[in-house]
Amino acid sequence: MIDRLAVFGNPVAHSLSPEIHQMFAESAGISMTYEKILVPLGEFKEAAGEFFRNGGRGINITVPFKQDAFDFVDELSVSAQQAGAVNTIVPQANGELKGFNTDGAGLASDLHSNLGWEINGKAILVIGAGGAVQGVLGDLLRAAPRSIVIANRTDSKAQALAVRINDERVSAVPLGELSGNFDVIVSGSSAGLTDVSHGYALPVSLMHENTCCYDMIYGKATEFLAWCDALPFVQRADGLGMLVEQAARAFELWYDVEVDGRIVLDRLRRR
Ligand code: ATR
Repeated sequence: MIDRLAVFGNPVAHSLSPEIHQMFAESAGISMTYEKILVPLGEFKEAAGEFFRNGGRGINITVPFKQDAFDFVDELSVSAQQAGAVNTIVPQANGELKGFNTDGAGLASDLHSNLGWEINGKAILVIGAGGAVQGVLGDLLRAAPRSIVIANRTDSKAQALAVRINDERVSAVPLGELSGNFDVIVSGSSAGLTDVSHGYALPVSLMHENTCCYDMIYGKATEFLAWCDALPFVQRADGLGMLVEQAARAFELWYDVEVDGRIVLDRLRRR
């Protein structure tokens, strides 16, 4: 029987995951199907349970089920524990279902391998303190930055996240009190998804001439990326590479083969 994989989400129609994984499968000479499954809210557990009882090979999980997936699995990887969320489930040889979170590794791969941006020893500013940011902080820290400052519209959430991460390199600073400049600025705010304004102005002085700005959102002209354009020499990227690389890390977990995200990313960008 051909392997069956899927992404579970709501909404899920927009997901590029089937295309991305088919490209990886082709490059690795693997035959599989990869579906989009629209799961009604509150029914993740039943839907995922049924998928695996019917022999499913693995799933990705997207909004809003990453926490449900975290609660659903039998076992958690370190990244999933740190993220408090699961985006990939892999059945284990003993029949247990293990939850992983490849978002942070995907971001780190995109920054390092695709964009050539250095994290090691650098000062990082992360904007936002929701699920997307929590999902990547552990892996960002593993890339050995000098410091990570978290700033969020609701400062108390940034403070709570910094306490939860419990690493001396991480601190939360109110948006209005940010000072100095940063080597890499990552936006994990969901404001850009809905075209809502942030309602705050970031000073351009947070950037220097080699600052690199990354928006985890892809395919949108976000307010954050427009802000980065205020300085013409600042390098900037959207989150398409992170999407491809988190998928690459998931594919590697299912099939134990290495895949090259860059080829897939080039193909998606050329469209
Ligand atoms: P996700 O899973 O996408 O991270 P989330 O957990 O709801 O979603 O987090 C959304 C993040 O985007 C939060 O940091 C949120 O700021 P608040 O904690 O202040 O809500 C941020 N965000 C969303 N809409 C925003 C807006 N219009 N302006 C500024 N920040 C916004």
